[in-house]
Amino acid sequence: MATESEIKIPDIAGKVFEFSVLPSTQTKAVELLEAGESLPFSVIANAQSNGAGRLGRNWFSPYGGIYISWAAEAKIFDAEPMAIAIAVCRAISEYTGKDAVIKWPNDIMIDGKKLAGILAQKIDGNVITGIGINTFDSDAISKYAGSKMVTISLSSRQRREFIVRIFEEIEPIWKKYQKLGFAAFVEQFISLSFPQGTKFRVSKNDINFLGTFAGITEKGELLLEVNGETEKFSAGEISIVMDN
Ligand code: BTN
Repeated sequence: MATESEIKIPDIAGKVFEFSVLPSTQTKAVELLEAGESLPFSVIANAQSNGAGRLGRNWFSPYGGIYISWAAEAKIFDAEPMAIAIAVCRAISEYTGKDAVIKWPNDIMIDGKKLAGILAQKIDGNVITGIGINTFDSDAISKYAGSKMVTISLSSRQRREFIVRIFEEIEPIWKKYQKLGFAAFVEQFISLSFPQGTKFRVSKNDINFLGTFAGITEKGELLLEVNGETEKFSAGEISIVMDN
């Protein structure tokens, strides 16, 4: 059996920079890109002391989670993190056997709780995609107040195999995405999302919209049916509304 360090990360990842702890793989990747590192490349850490989430939030990053920033040349950048969410969602379902679901725009949920998040930064003609997956010990999450997150604890070998699986899923999706854009993924994205008709609350600029999930556009916008009208959202955050 190959030793853990012999488990090869697929070529699409490019040169892999691995760290035990970093403030953020994302800021490290930006530094490397600005220093002229050739693309693609990946920065992977076991923990982050200042992980960045979407919408200016912090990303809880204890030891044992998966923290990847993958830098690549991008000819197309429309709903790029949503295309990568498809790859991550597929890898999670396959690797864990659990039913992973995408919550628009690019959260991956298991049993209604967040397991993984994705963000992307476009820098000139390149993109740095940040992927965070909770694979740390469950003790860590119980200490995290008000948690709506879930973790699947993995050994360090499983964690590495899982990273390989993620890049294996990214590879074909990325190639297709770079030819055709997100339009080619709308159906697949919807099929991995909560069922259409699910009640969502969408908050945008501090305003809440209550409606039902009615689809995704070719640009990756969320369609929400609100009082018989279809509203379109290009940014925002959704929560699932449970019926009593
Ligand atoms: C989200 O808020 O849902 C997106 C979270 C993305 C976190 C990842 S972890 C790897 C990379 N480095 C960071 O600092 N953030 C991203």
